[in-house]
Amino acid sequence: MTAGKPIKCIAAVAYEAGKPLTVEEITVDPPKAHEVRVKIDYTAVCHTDAYTLSGVDPEGAFPAILGHEGAGIVESVGESVTNVKPGDHVIALYTAECQKCKFCTSNKTNLCSSVRATQGKGVMPDGTSRFHNAKGEDLLHFMGCSTFSRYTVLADVSVVAIDPKAPLEKVCLLGCGVTTGYGAAVKTANVQKGDTVAVFGAGTVGLSVVQGAKVRGCSKIIVVDINDDKKTWASEFGATDFINPMKDLKKGETIVDKLVEITDGGLDFTFDCTGNVNVMRDALEACHKGWGQSIIIGVAAAGKEISTRPFQLVTGRVWKGSAFGGIKGRSEMNGLISDYFDGKLKVDEFITHRRGFTEINDAFEDLHHGDCLRTVLDLSK
Ligand SMILES: NC(=O)c1ccc[n+]([C@@H]2O[C@H](COP(=O)([O-])OP(=O)(O)OC[C@H]3O[C@@H](n4cnc5c(N)ncnc54)[C@H](O)[C@@H]3O)[C@@H](O)[C@H]2O)c1
Ligand SMILES: [Zn+2]
Ligand SMILES: [Zn+2]
Repeated sequence: MTAGKPIKCIAAVAYEAGKPLTVEEITVDPPKAHEVRVKIDYTAVCHTDAYTLSGVDPEGAFPAILGHEGAGIVESVGESVTNVKPGDHVIALYTAECQKCKFCTSNKTNLCSSVRATQGKGVMPDGTSRFHNAKGEDLLHFMGCSTFSRYTVLADVSVVAIDPKAPLEKVCLLGCGVTTGYGAAVKTANVQKGDTVAVFGAGTVGLSVVQGAKVRGCSKIIVVDINDDKKTWASEFGATDFINPMKDLKKGETIVDKLVEITDGGLDFTFDCTGNVNVMRDALEACHKGWGQSIIIGVAAAGKEISTRPFQLVTGRVWKGSAFGGIKGRSEMNGLISDYFDGKLKVDEFITHRRGFTEINDAFEDLHHGDCLRTVLDLSK
């Protein structure tokens, strides 16, 4: 029985920006009230982890245990935890859901305020950390998840129990990228049968937007990416067209001109899944006058700003954003798991690489290669 006692386990610690992670033994304290200790079985590496590790994230703080796309099994729970119990299979949620705050009780947003302030500072809601290294130094939490550790402690509002039949080595991806793109299409944009859609950037997020648009029966699903290698993937996930703006435009033609031309005036919905602010502008301006909506999903580099002529909005285009696909993690995750079981939501197809946990630094390298959508790490290895 490990409940109530500190656990020693392996973790990947980010000691400094721009440096590789250090895989070492750490101590994980037992969960306090309203906290859950989870044995993480599988985690993937997402761009946000790389962004923070690179040092360009102004809010990044070190030393920390990164990772937010992970799944595992509840080892023990602190006092007053009622939503999960030891043995439950769970996904970590970087977007918590307390079901009580004014955000949670609104049907307009999935942004819960319950643990926001402390989560942003890298500590648990009581202001302290559950992670310590061999020297006894505290290590910070990250995005309320810290899945780059065999054991982690989460606020109870940041975990959702899932159907134990769902394979954790796959559905760990529902902790970020897949849910973000799919939710942005079916929830934030709520695309409908017959709508025309353009998706800028065909990574895990963009391809998941594509699959949401396909499930809804959109008539045109155009993927725009500067990497030709994404063309095959785009069509496998349901895209009807692929445009590489570096190669497929006539002299003097812009991507906006091209999209407006082939869609008789512009798209019903566009999505930025690149994080590039110039692409965000193109995505907005490629929307149809009067009703086109553009959804920003990509995370731009620190300090970047978006711009367009106000006339674009005056004439009816709408600019929106989406975090975690607008999905309320605790109430809606099992719906996504059902879609996965029903074959409506592809998840396995995103796993292009698998590695043992000790190869985590190589998994960060994988991210920079065009042939990688997601690397899943097995924490038992
Ligand atoms: N809002 C959220 O909740 C949320 C959650 C997860 C990820 N994100 C963000 O979403 C974005 C996409 O994530 P991902 O994991 O799919 O990334 P990714 O790097 O795998 O995919 C990005 C794709 O965009 C393409 N691209 C780059 N520049 C382009 C350009 N100028 N025009 C067209 N295509 C271009 C790349 O070739 C690549 O295929 C990132 O910015 C990430 O930080 C946001
Ligand atoms: Zn992520
Ligand atoms: Zn809340």
